[in-house]
Amino acid sequence: MNSGYHGLEALWHDLFWEAEEAPSEIHLIDDFLRDHDGTSLYVGSGSGRLLGPLVAAGHRLTGLEISPEMVALSRESFPDVSVIESSWQEHEADEKYSSILIPAFTFQLFPDPQKQLQRLRAQTDHLYLTLFFPWAEVSGDLPQNEWYFDRGIRLPTGEMGELETRHKIKESNGSLTRKHRYTLKDKSGSVVRQEITEQALRFFPDASLKKLLKNTGWEIEKEIYNLGESEEDDLVYVATMHLRGSA
Ligand SMILES: C[S@@+](CC[C@H](N)C(=O)[O-])C[C@H]1O[C@@H](n2cnc3c(N)ncnc32)[C@H](O)[C@@H]1O
Repeated sequence: MNSGYHGLEALWHDLFWEAEEAPSEIHLIDDFLRDHDGTSLYVGSGSGRLLGPLVAAGHRLTGLEISPEMVALSRESFPDVSVIESSWQEHEADEKYSSILIPAFTFQLFPDPQKQLQRLRAQTDHLYLTLFFPWAEVSGDLPQNEWYFDRGIRLPTGEMGELETRHKIKESNGSLTRKHRYTLKDKSGSVVRQEITEQALRFFPDASLKKLLKNTGWEIEKEIYNLGESEEDDLVYVATMHLRGSA
């Protein structure tokens, strides 16, 4: 299955992200890049919503994005920012990157995490990675195998965009399948268009992640929980890691 975003999912990606009111990851990436001169690669750079401002702030970054629709959005908004249209799995660098960034859970779309961590290790000594843990799905707070309303947005045209989700989780092997149903409604509430997408995601309990990193030649330099907004006893929904290649 191609993990690239397309259709309404690509077009509305940034609007839904904004509607979530989650803290932005940009300052975490900015801090990380301050320690890494030289050219870095941003895997799954999407519409450029983080890539563009990071390049404008003076960081030397190239985007890598599998979805032609996302690449087009990025080039339209940030024409001077370089984006390679390719999948990470097919990407080979001529020389090592100063660092590689994979924010916003893109890594969890890769079906073979061990192999990809090894490939990342071959292309850089420094990796910035953000992963989420699906507590609401694991705990049963979200119903399995049925559609539930996720979020709604008002589009700049005045029409409405709605997102419903349906998931299936298998905790024993860390797999989460999510279907997304995007619905475009006109001002009177009538359905104009509907699209369903499917994502196969991986998630990692703490101990298995540590083992996976160790086996693929990575050690954790720094960990940041819940995008830096975590209180001491909070569950960790989002973990950001600065990883360094071990000897
Ligand atoms: C969750 S979005 C994040 C986009 C961007 N990082 C952001 O925060 O706005 C994941 C992005 O990764 C892209 N993607 C998924 N699989 C990929 C792969 N194998 N190689 C490169 N890009 C990929 C998708 O098309 C999508 O644009």
